[in-house]
Amino acid sequence: VVVCVTGSRNRIDSVEHGERKLHIHWGDGHRSVFHYVWLRDNCSCAACGESSTLQRRIDGLLRIPSDVTPSKVEVDDARRLKIHWSPDQHQTLFEPTWLREHCYSKAERERRRHKPILWGKELGSRIPTADFDAVVRDDARRLEAMLLLRDYGFVRFQGVPVTPDGLEGVASMIGYAVRDTYYGRVFDIRVEEGSSLMSSTNATILPHNDEGWRAVPLGIVMFHCIDASADGGGQNNLIDGFRVCEALRAQDERAFDLLSRVTWTFFRSIPGEVESRSEGRIISTDQDGNVVGLRYPFRFRAPLDMAEDVIEPVYDAIRKLMRLIYGGDFDVTFGLRPGEVLAFDNHRLLHGRTAFMGRRHIRFGYVDRDDFHLQMRLLCRRLDRHGDAEIAIGKGALA
Ligand SMILES: [Fe+2]
Ligand SMILES: [Zn+2]
Repeated sequence: VVVCVTGSRNRIDSVEHGERKLHIHWGDGHRSVFHYVWLRDNCSCAACGESSTLQRRIDGLLRIPSDVTPSKVEVDDARRLKIHWSPDQHQTLFEPTWLREHCYSKAERERRRHKPILWGKELGSRIPTADFDAVVRDDARRLEAMLLLRDYGFVRFQGVPVTPDGLEGVASMIGYAVRDTYYGRVFDIRVEEGSSLMSSTNATILPHNDEGWRAVPLGIVMFHCIDASADGGGQNNLIDGFRVCEALRAQDERAFDLLSRVTWTFFRSIPGEVESRSEGRIISTDQDGNVVGLRYPFRFRAPLDMAEDVIEPVYDAIRKLMRLIYGGDFDVTFGLRPGEVLAFDNHRLLHGRTAFMGRRHIRFGYVDRDDFHLQMRLLCRRLDRHGDAEIAIGKGALA
């Protein structure tokens, strides 16, 4: 018996009519269900407007009856699915590969979703790392670095020039350019006597997200080490926010649900410089309940403003999350040496730093998360990694 595995995934073995949907049995044993209205909507013939008749595509859905039903379904000699529609005498042809790629069964949707690699303190010193020279020279190495950032939520670049434009070089590899902000494109983090900013002191900073008071928080944050403090302090303290959210879900699902549902107000006010304010949820989930973003309030949250019956449960829930964050079970801590850049997804990771004495100079900037994903997809296409180009990446802490 010869079993052909290659191609069986995209081979239609049989079809079965349901009342409002079509069941397809595939060569690999998988079964798909496609609703007739979905199939009719996705007809890509010239009349339905995939190409030149965009106008028809725009309102075409309104002309499809919601109870549209095939009069006949057949699998042709090339094993394509051919549907004759009633009552509009229309015909649609589907390539099996396309259908399988768009199958919306739970299993296939789960397969298409990006699965972040969740980590905790067991990651230890195995910091995802990339050699910056190699990244600049070689697209494959550049993609490797971007995939580390996508999957772990952070990557450390080594060998970045210790020059004022070093950060721009990294930005151009993982996005377009360092974003301009109210503090300039690049902010120098070092001790500034008399500054009211916590980052400009030598104190410990507990893990947090950056600028969660924006409607779209900073995307991929970069820290470029120019000078490390000689006492070994000023180390980065990173936490995988998704892992912590999952820990909360395992411990108290109700608390998790509450924090993914109620909306907080975050704000930042520096008279004459910043007046920023936004609503957001602490935990962002996708439509299937997967965690896709964390917006942790830290210091910059307004008084709770939500339905009175959830005030106390929300306080309980956020305290549970805080105990997990500050409990020490999830942290990875490491110092940056001059010439190293830490890039991390600010919609996922929490970052803090340990106290230090003496000189320390970090240059700080960020690139848009969207641009990072766009550049990564372009690179995937160029390197024939179409699966990675197609994968659906979580939208981040936007809810
Ligand atoms: Fe920060
Ligand atoms: Zn059509």
